[in-house]
Amino acid sequence: MELTEAIYGRRATRAYSEAPVPKDVIESLIDAAIQAPSAINEQPWDFAIVQDRQLLDKISTMAKAHMIETMPSGSFPEHLHESLESPSFHIFYHAPALITISAREGAWAIENATLAAENLMLAAHEKGLGSCWIGFAQRWLETPEGKQALGIPDDFVPVAPIIIGYSATPIASVPRRPPHLRWIG
Ligand SMILES: Cc1cc2nc3c(=O)[nH]c(=O)nc-3n(C[C@H](O)[C@H](O)[C@H](O)COP(=O)(O)O)c2cc1C
Repeated sequence: MELTEAIYGRRATRAYSEAPVPKDVIESLIDAAIQAPSAINEQPWDFAIVQDRQLLDKISTMAKAHMIETMPSGSFPEHLHESLESPSFHIFYHAPALITISAREGAWAIENATLAAENLMLAAHEKGLGSCWIGFAQRWLETPEGKQALGIPDDFVPVAPIIIGYSATPIASVPRRPPHLRWIG
């Protein structure tokens, strides 16, 4: 697949088939992820892979409760509050796999993990897989309990929880607004 096709074709996927993602495919996505640049070439990544449905359900439940408890009112659009309050809403959309990218704490932890995340999502698209970054999971995963659930080392920060799986339905693209552009000088 051409890079341009991957960049323009990747879409946040929120409906998944039951089909599991083979281990070697997950490993190939992580191999693509670690081709990302990292500050001072530190390569400070940690990847936690969860395929256990019960654990995914538990994380979804804990993360929703944590968000409701901790987020200031008015910080999110009303429909997101409604989703979080709904018992049937699963933050991982019942995807078969969650890959959480963490990075060693430091000045560029977020950048290091995020660049790896985009590589991973583009590589997933090339392999016919859907993906979605799940920000709803982040705040709980950052807690001691969340880090422990994924075995994230103490000196690492979880940044990018990404669900992966085969899409159950074709996905329409989300239009982009024109970029803010200023040509200086
Ligand atoms: C930091 C971040 C957090 C996100 N969190 C969620 C989330 O919790 N749930 C969700 O369904 N999508 C989440 N998304 C996906 C965005 O909603 C999605 O990328 C955006 O609507 C644009 O759609 P596209 O990815 O198909 O282009 C997140 C994306 C990013 C970058």
